[in-house]
Amino acid sequence: MARHLYLRRRRNFIRAAGVGAVAAGLAGTTSWLGGELEAAQNPNAQKLADLKKSPLSTSEKLNSYKDITTYNNFYEFGLDKGDPARHAGSLKPRPWSIVVEGQCGKPGTYHIEDIMKWFPLEERIYRLRCVEAWSMVIPWVGFPLSDFVKRFEPTSKAHYVEFRTLVDVKQMPGQSEPALQWPYVEGLRMDEAMHSLAIMAVGLYGEVLPNQNGAPIRLVVPWKYGFKGIKSIVRVRFVENQPVNTWQQTRASEYGFFANVNPDVDHPRWTQKSERRIGEFFRRKTLPFNGYADQVASLYAGMDLRKYY
Ligand code: MTE
Repeated sequence: MARHLYLRRRRNFIRAAGVGAVAAGLAGTTSWLGGELEAAQNPNAQKLADLKKSPLSTSEKLNSYKDITTYNNFYEFGLDKGDPARHAGSLKPRPWSIVVEGQCGKPGTYHIEDIMKWFPLEERIYRLRCVEAWSMVIPWVGFPLSDFVKRFEPTSKAHYVEFRTLVDVKQMPGQSEPALQWPYVEGLRMDEAMHSLAIMAVGLYGEVLPNQNGAPIRLVVPWKYGFKGIKSIVRVRFVENQPVNTWQQTRASEYGFFANVNPDVDHPRWTQKSERRIGEFFRRKTLPFNGYADQVASLYAGMDLRKYY
């Protein structure tokens, strides 16, 4: 995404390693093409039992556990797709707590074990469409974001909810580089946060979230580009004004706040009309709101989605 940063780092790496074009090509090889990246699976991978099936799930073919856990964006661990799987072992998802603050009746510090007991866990199989024009189908485990939000009794001044990722360079070594501004920040308008499709995910494929996918808790908003799905959340703030999210901070001309999947608004450097489903050879058409238009288009009635990209 931050191609300028990526290319600079890649050039430095190749120079430092004293290797040439062949190695440069191999470094980009990903698991499903026969590379040897293995999922850095949590050896204690805890199974999540008694999952409700959701009518909101898609019946499309799932991506493999290996695809989902070795082809990641998590810049806190590096810029290559395989970096999170290689390096996220340093993240400690327990003990973990989330600070809730701002315009709400129940601010405080909440432990992940307690949060996970508040709501029944369900499986939600969703398409994930990255702004970089690739996609996957992922069987998340989580609970509705709306239930989580209601728990803190947001006031009438809470127009947006903002989320922040952990900052700890020991656990997240990529934070020693200014690839992005840390912490990673995201936000939703309150009606978006209350929509039944938005979830907090704590697992995938029936197991607790692997670190590289945002352990122990991350956001999933399937009608928006994947960068809205902030990982490893430690802070939730109810605010009056629209937050400035990380990618907007980085390049406002290319990434907006709303970031709804929209095949009619190209990224300045590539088309958004089609996407590469990981594991497939031919590109497929990108659908408005990532195929969830029937459920969510009304949230944006009257808004110019070319302006609010
Ligand atoms: N959250 C944090 N904290 N840091 C990141 O770099 N990358 C985002 C999002 N959440 C990112 C993040 C992007 S660009 C995408 S596409 C999704 O995570 C990828 O999620 P996945 O790796 O679980 O597929």
